[in-house]
This record gives sequence, structure tokens and C-alpha cells, in this order.
Amino acid sequence: MAKLIYSAITSLDGYVEDKDGNFDWAAPDEEVHTFVNDLERHVGTYLYGRRMYETMLYWETAHTIPDQPSFVRDFTDMWQAAEKVVYSRTLQAVSSARTQIERHFDPAVVQEMKDIASRDLTVGGSDLAAQIIEAGLVDELHLLVMPVIVGGGKRALPNDVRLHLGLLDMDRFGSGVVHLHYRAMT
Ligand SMILES: NC(=O)c1ccc[n+]([C@@H]2O[C@H](COP(=O)([O-])OP(=O)(O)OC[C@H]3O[C@@H](n4cnc5c(N)ncnc54)[C@H](OP(=O)(O)O)[C@@H]3O)[C@@H](O)[C@H]2O)c1
Repeated sequence: MAKLIYSAITSLDGYVEDKDGNFDWAAPDEEVHTFVNDLERHVGTYLYGRRMYETMLYWETAHTIPDQPSFVRDFTDMWQAAEKVVYSRTLQAVSSARTQIERHFDPAVVQEMKDIASRDLTVGGSDLAAQIIEAGLVDELHLLVMPVIVGGGKRALPNDVRLHLGLLDMDRFGSGVVHLHYRAMT
């Protein structure tokens, strides 16, 4: 069965976005971006909350920007080739290929996506991810921890959820970023 993976780039104090709505401090450098490309190469479907989807839409047209470095072109190709499911009650239409809208989160539907998928799924967007984690559907987590404390904002991980984890791997990068790879213990 395909795995459902939560991937997030977070501050050391656990935020994906600071109190001012910024996440420019979360931009990966070439080394980390290349690593993320390799992590995501096997992903067949991205599940997104609407806000994360709107951020990731950049990749739908990134190939039109001249002189992109090869690691950016690599991610662009992967992103465009993958299926996307965007969760939203408000979005009128999608702006990317291979994309469908889900109007509400039904754990049984996500379980079925996992059951029939031949490649892994990831979830992006902390609001949606919180619901999927709470429903017990996340198999693994990839947290890329930036060397910064932002003091508040939007949390990468949900409140009021207890989940025991097994550490599968960890990596460190020249910029001070640490990658933590966990599996959810059942
Ligand atoms: N740290 C990083 O590297 C990084 C990178 C990119 C972006 N970000 C930031 O991370 C933030 C993630 O934001 P977030 O946690 O608010 O967003 P999110 O999960 O991406 O999106 C939240 C939206 O998803 C929809 N949604 C959630 N649950 C739903 C459900 N059960 N049924 C239907 N629709 C549902 C709703 O959209 P509607 O309002 O349309 O109903 C909701 O407003 C963004 O603000 C983004 O700017 C961080």
C-alpha cells in the first residue's frame, strides 16, 4: 500500500509561517532543495490545503521563467507530472493540470486513495495535515527544521494530538537545516 507522508519546512519552534504571515525564512537553498527533490521523486499525489495549493501554484508556470537552475527545473517537472487534490470549500476552479477539488475531508476517501495508489501521497498545508494526522492516516513525517526561532505563527503540527514516532533517518546540511524522518507508530 502507498504511504501518506506529511512533509513540512518548519522553524525550530515548530511554525510553518510566522505571526506576520511570512515564511521567507523557510526557503531552501540548493543543497536542501536538491534533497527535497529526491524525497519527492516517488510521490504520485499531493494532497493540499487550499492555502498551500495557492503557494505551490508557482510551480505550474515555473518552466516559463528563463535561466532556472537545474534543481528548480527538476522540481518543476516532478510537480507538474504529479496528481494534485486540493481541499477547499471556496475555490471556484483549479489553476493547474491533473488537479481535483475535494469539498470536505473524509478519512475514508483518503484511505481509499492510499489503498489504490501505486505511488506515495504527501500532504501539504498544516491545517489539512492536522486533520489527516488526527485521523491516523499519516504513515511518515519529513520535517525540515530551519535554524531559526520565529516566536509564533502557524504551527506545523496539531495541538491535542498524541502520536508516537520512530526515527527512520536524519540528515544535516551546510546551512544548518536538519531533516528528521519519522514513521508513525501504530
Ligand atoms: N514553511 C513553508 O515552507 C511554507 C511553504 C509554503 C507555504 N507555507 C505557508 O503555510 C501555510 C499553510 O496554511 P494553512 O495551514 O492555513 O493551510 P492549508 O492547510 O494549506 O489550507 C487551509 C485551507 O484548506 C481548506 N481546507 C482545510 N481543511 C478542509 C476541509 N476539511 N474541507 C475542505 N477544505 C479544507 C480550506 O480552504 P477554503 O478556505 O478555501 O475553504 C482552508 O482555509 C500557508 O499560509 C502558506 O503560506 C509555508
